[in-house]
Amino acid sequence: EINHVRDKYLRPLQDLRISIMDKCNFRCSYCMPQEVFGEDYVFMREEELLSFDEIERLVRQFTTLGVKKLRLTGGEPLLRKNVPELIKRLSVIKGIEDIALTTNGVHLVKQAKLLKEAGLMRVNVSLDALTTEIFQQMNGRKVTSAVVLKGIDAALEAGLEVKINMVVKKGVNEGEVVKLARYCKERDIQLRFIEFMDVGQTNGWDFSQVVTKKELLEQVSTIAPIEEVERDYLGEVATRYRYSGTNTEIGIISSVSDTFCGNCTRARISADGKLYTCLFAESGYDLRSLIRANTSDQEIVSKITEIWSARTDKYSEERTEETVKNRKKIEMSYIGG
Ligand code: GTP
Ligand code: 5AD
Ligand code: SF4
Ligand code: SF4
Repeated sequence: EINHVRDKYLRPLQDLRISIMDKCNFRCSYCMPQEVFGEDYVFMREEELLSFDEIERLVRQFTTLGVKKLRLTGGEPLLRKNVPELIKRLSVIKGIEDIALTTNGVHLVKQAKLLKEAGLMRVNVSLDALTTEIFQQMNGRKVTSAVVLKGIDAALEAGLEVKINMVVKKGVNEGEVVKLARYCKERDIQLRFIEFMDVGQTNGWDFSQVVTKKELLEQVSTIAPIEEVERDYLGEVATRYRYSGTNTEIGIISSVSDTFCGNCTRARISADGKLYTCLFAESGYDLRSLIRANTSDQEIVSKITEIWSARTDKYSEERTEETVKNRKKIEMSYIGG
C-alpha cells in the first residue's frame, strides 16, 4: 500500500536521486573546478558513505511514499565498488518502475554489460564536446571524447537506453552544439543540452555564460526542422523536440531561462545520507544518523513524510542576483545533479 505524500504546492514525491560517491575522475569547470577540488581536497571517508544495506532500506521506505523512479549519481557513481550488486538489489524492490544512472561514461566499456544484467535500464552520459581540446578544457582531466564515445557504444551494445547530456557554456563549447547534434542525429541518440546552472558556490556562474534554450533551438534548427514533442511524464526536466519526419529527439534542460519547479517531484540523497528537497538547497536532513541509531522503519517514513509535506522549494523560479551570490548552496558533486 502506498501513502502518496504531497508538498506545500501539492507536488508528489516520485523520483529519488541517490548519490553513491562524492569523488569523480573528472574536474568539470562547472561542477568540480580544479582550483577548488585539488590534491588536498577532503572527500568522504568510506564509512561516511551509506552502505548498500542502508541505501536499500531507504529506497524501500521511499517507495511506500510513492517513489517509483530511481537514479544513481555521484560525483561519478561508477567509482564506487560493486555498483551492479547495488542495482540488482534496488531493481527488484516493489514499486520501482525505472532505474537509471548518470555517469561521465569512462567506466562503461568495462561495466555496461554487468550493469544491464543487474537490472539497470538506462544511462545518461555526460559529454560536452567532440573536439578533444574543447572536451579537455571542460573536463579538466585530459580525457578524450573518444573514450566516452566508446563507453556510449558499449552501453548501447549492452541494450541500455542512452541519452547524452551536454552542458553548454558560452564561449567555451558553444561551437560543439551543432557538431554533437549531428553526431547524435546520425546514430539516433537523444542529445540533451543543459543550460549552465549556478549550482554550488564554486563554479563562478553568471548569466552571461548561459546559452539559453532559445539560442540552442536556433542552432539545432540549422541542421533540420524540429518540432516539440509531448512530455513523457510529470516532472520531466527536459523539453523534447524531434527532427520533423523522424523519431530522433533532442532535449533542452532550461533550468535558467524557462524553469520547471512547478512539477518538481524529485528528492535527493547525498552519498553520506542527507536528504535534500532541492538541487539548490542550503542544508539537508541527516537520514544516516537516523538509520545508524536503530530507528524503526515507521519512524523514518514519518520523518520523510514530515519533510516532504513541508517542502516549498522552487529555487529556479526564485533565482535572483542575490540568491546566486549569497545562498550557501550545496555542491553539485555532493548532491548528484
Ligand atoms: P531522465 O530521467 O532521463 O529525464 O533524467 P534527468 O534529466 O532527470 O537526470 P540527469 O541526471 O541526466 O540530469 C540532467 C540535468 O538535469 C542535470 O544538469 C541535472 O542537474 C538537471 N536536473 C535534474 N533534475 C533537476 C531538478 O530537479 N532541478 C534542476 N534545476 N535541474 C535538474
Ligand atoms: N549546470 C548544469 N549542469 C550541470 N551538471 C553538473 N554541473 C552542472 C551545472 N553547473 C550536469 C552534468 C551531468 C548532470 C548530472 O549534471 O553534466 O550531466
Ligand atoms: Fe564529475 Fe559529472 Fe561533476 Fe563532471 S559533472 S566533475 S563528470 S560529477
Ligand atoms: Fe526542483 Fe529545486 Fe530544481 Fe526547482 S530548482 S526543479 S524545486 S530541484
